[in-house]
Order: sequence, then structure tokens, then C-alpha cells
Amino acid sequence: MAKPIKVACIVGTRPEAIKMAPVVRDLKARDGFEVFLLSTGQHKEMLAQVLAAFDLTPDHDLEIMTERQTLNQILARAIPGLDQVFAQFQPNLVLVQGDTSTAFIAGLVAFNRRIKVGHVEAGLRSGDKWQPFPEEVNRRLLSVVADLNFAPTPTARDYLLREAVDPGSIFVTGNTVIDALLTVIKPDYRFRESLLEEALQEHGVKRILVTAHRRENWGEPMAEICQAAKSLLASGLPLRFIWPVHLNPVVREVVHRELSGVSGVYLTDPLEYSDLANLMSRVDLIWTDSGGIQEEAPSLGVPILVLREVTERPEGVAAKAARLVGTEAGRLVQVTRTILTQSDEYRRMAAAANPYGDGAASRRIGEYLAWYYGLISEKPLPFA
Ligand code: UD1
Ligand code: UDP
Repeated sequence: MAKPIKVACIVGTRPEAIKMAPVVRDLKARDGFEVFLLSTGQHKEMLAQVLAAFDLTPDHDLEIMTERQTLNQILARAIPGLDQVFAQFQPNLVLVQGDTSTAFIAGLVAFNRRIKVGHVEAGLRSGDKWQPFPEEVNRRLLSVVADLNFAPTPTARDYLLREAVDPGSIFVTGNTVIDALLTVIKPDYRFRESLLEEALQEHGVKRILVTAHRRENWGEPMAEICQAAKSLLASGLPLRFIWPVHLNPVVREVVHRELSGVSGVYLTDPLEYSDLANLMSRVDLIWTDSGGIQEEAPSLGVPILVLREVTERPEGVAAKAARLVGTEAGRLVQVTRTILTQSDEYRRMAAAANPYGDGAASRRIGEYLAWYYGLISEKPLPFA
């Protein structure tokens, strides 16, 4: 029997695990591959929560997270472990996802060992190297070392082509987050977090889900977002805010200082993925600076206000599912009022089709790898 193709799949943070889980599942179910799941442990509780939800256990965990870690601490702590595991496992391919410090450093360590690198969610660009920081640079650097670029959309493919990435290395797949999302959405879903059942019971109110964690929004911008929520509540609109707060103490300090005990605001810890996904499908509006949530929400018919100045996900804005509003409180209040009170505008946003994926991205990646390594003869069709 031929030797299996050894694939090391790398995860470190919550979104990477959500988006890598369907790929790991697909490859594990395929003949001809040996899959090794390696966690850097850049996140701890938030990563464990996702891995448990997808019933995945890492084959090895480097457990690098420290409180208030700096970017260079993440890199320095991850390199020796990644290097050692690659030396032992001898993968044919290292698969990384997205634009985190984990993804970038795993790609670089693999490159230095002359191991092929596959990049899931390749080609996203905001065009501004400081926004999001450091993700825009992480993903650009990954495009330099990657041998296989799984671009989620034609827009991402075009960015790669403009940077003279080998066209033969690019395959458009759709975003694997939609695969993950579709496995957990249930019409009769019962929430694990009891506060959510309570938050969803009240009649005659509109609900806004909020998440924010980007470095650009630390400090004053985060306080502005909180201020906008308070102003809207004070204006008498029948609103409720539900905010699962990221575990980063830099984020928690501001959000809890500004919003703890405010009537109409539900603050929770990070939600288990199926709770968050099913909550998204039951709220009226989402305020977020998250990448993944921008991609998921259009599948659930919920308009999004993006709490950023630029986005590497222009497809949602072009499809009119999302509006880029930044974090200035006055603007956030004004746009929220408009969308919630003008039903035509609301309907247009809610009805937009999802440009990010169709639920078959991980199958396309699995089939592409099977074809690339000569295990099947037919190359799969790209996501259109
Ligand atoms: C990281 C990624 C970002 C991604 C985000 C997803 C980088 C540079 N950033 O940012 O691209 O959007 O994850 O959430 O890779 N913490 C915990 N427990 C956890 C997770 C985090 O306590 O399970 C706290 C720790 O104090 C940690 C801090 O949060 O030091 C920041 O974590 P880090 O991964 O450095 O940055 P994120 O802002 O989470
Ligand atoms: N998410 C989750 N629980 C939460 C908040 C977010 O499971 O409390 C999911 C969300 O549905 C999306 C992913 O986490 O799939 C996004 O992660 P995050 O916003 O932390 O990172 P980003 O996508 O911005 O890199």
C-alpha cells in the first residue's frame, strides 16, 4: 500500500479552529491521508470551547498562551514547538488557516524546513498594513511562503493574482466557516447559556448582538461602541444588547467598566459556537469587528454593521449585507436607527445572498488535495 500523505493541520485561536474543523473532518474521512492536528494553544479556553464543540482533540498542544501576551511573545514561544513537531511528524503538507500569529509562524517554520504550505482563506486584503493589525501583514507574508492557496472567493483570488502569486497555486473554494455554520444551525435549537433563553424571551424589543476584539478597537474605540449602546438605550428605542465578551483582559476592562449593570445589556463570556451561531440567527442586527461573523451573518439573514474603518471582506458590503461604519458613537447610533426604523433598508440588507460560501468549501479542499497528490484523477470544480 502507498504511504499516506501526511498533513499537519495547525490551529491556535478560536476562529482558526472553527474554520479548520471541517477541513480536518473531511481529510480524516478520506483515504490516503494521515492527519495530525497541532495546536499552538495561542488561545486556551476559547480554543478548547471550539475543539470540544467539533469533537476534536489535538494530537499535540504547545500551550503557549500567557495573559496579555505580545505578538512577538506568541511567535517566540511557538517556534521551537512547531519546529520540533514538524521534525518528528515529517508532514508532506502543513495546512494553516487565516491570518493569526499562529498561522503565519507555522507557515514560516514549515517553509524553513522546506515543507509545503497550504493556506486556507488565502488572498484577503484590506490594502492597509495597519488595519487589521497585525493580520493584514500576516496574511500577505503567508502568501509569499504558501505553495497552495485556497482562496475563499474570486475577489481573494484576484488579490493574489495582482501580487503575482502563481495562478496554478490558487484554487477558489468558498469559506470553510460556512461549512461549520451549517452543521450547527437548528430551528428548534436550545441554548446552553441560560441567559440567552432569557434575553430571547422578551417580546416587542429588537436585539443587537455585539462582538469586538480587534487591536485597532482597544481603548477609546471600544468605549465609543459602549457609549453608542448606552445612547440608543437612553433614547427610548426598545432595544436589547447581547455581548459575549472576548477573554482578552484589555477588552474586558473597558466593556465591563462601561456596560456592567446597564439595563438592557446582557454581557456574557464567549459563547460556545453553536450558541453563538443560533443566537445570530435570532437577533435583528449585529455590530461586530469580527472577520468570521461578517462571513456567517449573511447566511442567517441578519444585517451587520462592521465596527472598522476598512475591511478585507468587501463582498458583504457589495452584496449590501454589511455596512462599514467604524466605531464613532454618533455614527453608530445614526446608522443603527436608520436600519432598524426603515423597513425597506432593513429588508434589503437581510435579503442579501451570502457571497462567502455554500457549505462545500472543505470538500473542495479535500478533493483538491486528493487530486494534487494523485489520489484521484479529476480536479474538483471551484466555488463560483
Ligand atoms: C487573536 C488573533 C486575531 C483573531 C483573534 C480571534 C493574532 C495576532 N490575533 O487575537 O487575529 O481575530 O485571536 O479571537 O493572532 N485570552 C484568554 N483566553 C483565551 C484567549 C485569549 O485569556 O482563550 C486572553 C489572554 O490574556 C491573551 C489575550 O486574550 O494574552 C490575547 O490573545 P491573543 O491571541 O494574543 O489575541 P486576540 O486579540 O485574541
Ligand atoms: N464566536 C463564537 N463565540 C463567541 C463569539 C464568536 O463561537 O462568543 C465565533 C463566530 O461565530 C465566528 C468566530 O468565533 O465563527 C469568529 O471569531 P473572532 O471574532 O474571535 O475572530 P475573527 O473572525 O475576527 O478572527
